[in-house]
Amino acid sequence: MVKIAVLGYGTVGSGVVEVIERNRMLIEKRVGKRLEVKYVLDIRDFPGDPYEDRIVHDAERILKDPEVEIICETMGGIEPAYTYSKRALEAGKSVCTSNKELVAAHGAELIALSEKHGCNYLFEASVGGGIPIIRPLNCALTAERVVEITGILNGTTNYILTRMEKDGADFGTVLKEAQQKGYAERNPEADVEGYDACRKIAILTSLIAGRTVDFGEIHTEGITGITPEDFQYARAMGRTIKLLAVSREEEDGYLASVTPCMLKKEVPLALVNGVFNAVSVRGNTLGESMFYGKGAGKLPTASAVVSDVVDCARHLGEHMVCIWEDEPVRLKPFEEGVSRFFVRMKEESEAEADAVFGPVAKIRLQELSGEYGFLTEPMTEREFAGKHRKVSGMISRIRVRD
Ligand code: HSE
Repeated sequence: MVKIAVLGYGTVGSGVVEVIERNRMLIEKRVGKRLEVKYVLDIRDFPGDPYEDRIVHDAERILKDPEVEIICETMGGIEPAYTYSKRALEAGKSVCTSNKELVAAHGAELIALSEKHGCNYLFEASVGGGIPIIRPLNCALTAERVVEITGILNGTTNYILTRMEKDGADFGTVLKEAQQKGYAERNPEADVEGYDACRKIAILTSLIAGRTVDFGEIHTEGITGITPEDFQYARAMGRTIKLLAVSREEEDGYLASVTPCMLKKEVPLALVNGVFNAVSVRGNTLGESMFYGKGAGKLPTASAVVSDVVDCARHLGEHMVCIWEDEPVRLKPFEEGVSRFFVRMKEESEAEADAVFGPVAKIRLQELSGEYGFLTEPMTEREFAGKHRKVSGMISRIRVRD
């Protein structure tokens, strides 16, 4: 019998219990032992819940119970999750988490601690919800030098962008829907401003580099500036708009960013809609490989946590190698990145813009008077910012990926 505890009985934590109950026979067969959820930690009571009798309010009962061998940390946030995870690992208990905030901030330290104490710190659910991406990077792609990762890594923003594009839905209304469906963070600013995707690309980059990326250094833009008019232009150009997280190894460091991008409608990432996420991984000998699935939501995320529980239960007392050291990864300055840009310009500034950007093909939409749009040639962020400063009538700009 393997005894586990779940810290946090919210969306993901209750999903963990549900997945274990629903698939108990299969899971136990795969582990080769019975599983028991001995405790569920939460500050609330859950009268009438089938797990009512396992609810505890004091983490000490779990951390000091030698019978508990695996902990699912589904609390989110840094504290008290950080302290509880450290205490659990120091006691030789493996920890499986969906907490991307904590993994991005303290991944290297917690993995090192798990190694020292002969247990594991696993975080499959921290990136891409239910999509298996951490285990593939750690186990299946170990022959590769991964040179680029491009992903749609946030379900909430992809859901919002899809509904804006397909149904002309209003930002605020769709965000509320995403919250009701259990996709959004407690503070949805983390989703819509791109911070959540930023932490996820930091985790992936740390894994491919084997060293730590400071997520605070990653250039991050969210989707709050994207408007229905941007989608009108995108449609006219056979494109769509997605929030892309990108990390690429270049000669002098990694270039990482999270920004809304215009993509041609036919490229695979453009076809990822709603709460789905996708991660495209480019290896130096494998070429491109893509992972696709539900990026948020109770059961998909819980399924990833439980897959980690199975892994830990199969390897009790044995640390599984995960190379992520405390050394910093050098990130290239974002200003050196090269893109094409889609620019919306006021008609009154056309002469100014012509002088700065040179001859460009202009897109004029009947329904949008007083403005036009155009695509620039490829240029660095620094060059674009210099041109931007020279024209007064720029309404907005979106990076373009071909
Ligand atoms: N808020 C996150 C998202 C949850 O929308 O992707 C999954 O990490």
